Amino acid sequence: MITRSDDYVEYCREAARNLRDVEDLALRGKNTGEITRRVNAGIVREVELRSDDDLVDIGCGDGTLLRLAQETGVASAIGLLATDEEVAVLRRSGLRVRQALTHGLSIADQSASVVVCNNVLLVVPRERIADSLREIVRIAKPDARVFLGEIPFVPGPPPEPEFGSIGETLAYFYKKHGPRATLGILRRIVDWKLTGKPMIIRSGASVSFYAEPSEFIAMVEQAGLKLVRHWPHDWPAGRYNYLFRKAAPTSAVSASEAI
Ligand SMILES: C[S@@+](CC[C@H](N)C(=O)[O-])C[C@H]1O[C@@H](n2cnc3c(N)ncnc32)[C@H](O)[C@@H]1O
Repeated sequence: MITRSDDYVEYCREAARNLRDVEDLALRGKNTGEITRRVNAGIVREVELRSDDDLVDIGCGDGTLLRLAQETGVASAIGLLATDEEVAVLRRSGLRVRQALTHGLSIADQSASVVVCNNVLLVVPRERIADSLREIVRIAKPDARVFLGEIPFVPGPPPEPEFGSIGETLAYFYKKHGPRATLGILRRIVDWKLTGKPMIIRSGASVSFYAEPSEFIAMVEQAGLKLVRHWPHDWPAGRYNYLFRKAAPTSAVSASEAI
């Protein structure tokens, strides 16, 4: 029996274990390094990254944004990843990364002048979103810029079915995804057979959280940020990018002014 799992964290772990190219840790699919560079270069522009910034990139993928920040020159840049396996890969390339999930960020209060969380909240279970937004607000310094990107406003594709036999699996993949994907799944079946590992197909395509802009903006503002602007993401379609700001501290009113 081949089972299916939508556990995205386990999908990340498996991707890091079977990695061929560091770029694959951005989890956009094969040969998408150029798209990852373009997306993250766009984020650098949107948050207007500066040399005095302390950047936290939640779900930093293949580390592209951290590298761009190093090139720009920032005070500090740290990336968070869902699993220790991803952390081990990026540490080998000298990046400052650690393991943490969105609802429990291992970062001190008010320590980031820029917080980025791009193409991540869509894989976080909906019941964890409010806690995740609270964590983002907690680590942001007053007046911080907060970029929350690639938030879908439509549900993801329907989940892949479970299969009773290897033949059924291969026939489905051939019909739905073509010969290349079928060859990929055949390789994995052979590996599962040889190593005795459980036969689980992990999907990276499922969407756990989506919201219309009005709903998402209300959730984030409720958590304590103010919308700067939002705009449609170019690819894939069906997503929005959002730039928020945390309120700056209001200057203390002196006793004489208050009277
Ligand atoms: C699709 S990649 C996005 C990479 C990068 N932000 C980009 O846009 O190029 C998703 C990233 O989110 C991380 N991730 C997955 N689930 C997460 C969770 N629950 N909390 C925090 N990070 C998570 C993964 O480790 C991975 O780095």
